[in-house]
Amino acid sequence: PENVGIVAMEIYFPPTCIQQDTLENFDGVSKGKYTIGLGQDCMAFCSEVEDVISMGLTAVTSLLEKYEINPKQIGRLEVGSETVIDKSKSIKTFLMDIFENAGNTDIEGVDSTNACYGGTAALFNCVNWVESNSWDGRYGLVVSTDSAVYADGPARPTGGAGAVAMLIGPDAPIAFESKFRASHMSHVYDFYKPDLASEYPVVDGKLSQTCYLMALDSCYKGYCQKYEKFQGKQFSMADADYFVFHSPYNKLVQKSFARLVFADVARDASSVDESAKEKLGQFTSLKGDESYQSRDLEKASQQVAKPDYDKKVQPATLIPKQLGNMYTASLYAAFASLIHNKSSSLDGNRVMMFSYGSGLSATMWSLRLTEGKAPFSLSNIAKVMNIEHKLKTRTEFAPEKFVELMHLMEHRYGGKDFVTSKDTSHLALGTYYLTEVDSKYRRFYAKK
Ligand code: ACO
Repeated sequence: PENVGIVAMEIYFPPTCIQQDTLENFDGVSKGKYTIGLGQDCMAFCSEVEDVISMGLTAVTSLLEKYEINPKQIGRLEVGSETVIDKSKSIKTFLMDIFENAGNTDIEGVDSTNACYGGTAALFNCVNWVESNSWDGRYGLVVSTDSAVYADGPARPTGGAGAVAMLIGPDAPIAFESKFRASHMSHVYDFYKPDLASEYPVVDGKLSQTCYLMALDSCYKGYCQKYEKFQGKQFSMADADYFVFHSPYNKLVQKSFARLVFADVARDASSVDESAKEKLGQFTSLKGDESYQSRDLEKASQQVAKPDYDKKVQPATLIPKQLGNMYTASLYAAFASLIHNKSSSLDGNRVMMFSYGSGLSATMWSLRLTEGKAPFSLSNIAKVMNIEHKLKTRTEFAPEKFVELMHLMEHRYGGKDFVTSKDTSHLALGTYYLTEVDSKYRRFYAKK
């Protein structure tokens, strides 16, 4: 099979949200801290009737319906998530309900977990399967689904929630450039979830930012080396049309793109112009660690990067700014924003992808886009995802109600023997929701 990649996409996110400026006021932090300091507009969260399983069920059902895919056409289903609901039973098995009802139980794949990287591991598994000798000619399906919630404090505004489903097959409008792929994996404690009784992570925010940027540098270096090895010529940022990053909050995405601009100056890439060399050349003598701490470098590189950021990054920032961190789904929600904003003009473009999961694992790779034929065309994918409508029809919560909900969810996490309110008034038709967790911890869902 040729041009294996993403042939169709669907995104689902809870219709419940809170504005970041409202949260700033409520938390009593300085005005602009979340909206400018973190670069976030709004944050989505699951109400007590939604969770990662219901979001996954909704995203998968909607994808199959809207692209008219018979569930029997799926041969592999992989889930990426870091929201642990059960230490043994995979989220994938919950989603099997959809396929069993259609008479298909012959579906490989289980869950992948490593912080925000699980979705990427799941995606690579599916793409590799289609490219392999084990492929049986059917589609792969990847689901990234997460609910990111943090304890009260500075990390809380970097929460979010959502699910992305991606159909994988040959002749894809979103094709992998499989040889150009570089990873950076390492053992660190920047963000982890050792307390199995709590949904909240233990997080060293500053360390996680530095780890993210170090992994980015390392992956970019590796990507350039592989590109040069297989293409026989130098790679630079000028060779890519768009850059899509894992997006815990937008400020880190701004810093990441600036970091890559600096990397091209430091490696003396031929496409770097004189003015960039003049402004950033002085920083190339900084030792690794110093360069991550230098505020002057950060400021200067962001300034040099700004025009290209607006062109090559900004179109992929809409959903992460509106929803917040969706952990495994964040990178793919950012990519969905690009399809939404630029669908008609992406034909022939190369898109760089950077996936980061704390702990840590990270990969940079690239995609080659072509318009494709309906229903698997970029413009139809944009139409199906219907992002503007989904964003417009959300319900804003007051901060008091949001905090009350967080307390209820803390109490319910890992619990049994409860029924939910079954209040679906906020949910769109066709959305799955949680109705009950019985005395044996078994979870039950219904569809609106
Ligand atoms: N107006 C404008 N900007 C402001 C204001 C204001 N009133 N107040 C603060 N800021 C700026 C700060 O200058 C800082 O900007 P800078 O990064 O350019 O220096 C930014 O807002 C953040 O403020 P800080 O005080 O540095 O950090 P804070 O204590 O708020 O914590 C953090 C931010 C670390 C991101 C926290 O939210 C966190 O731990 N989040 C979870 C971890 C995370 O997402 N890590 C990313 C990679 S790992 C992953 O994906 C989970």
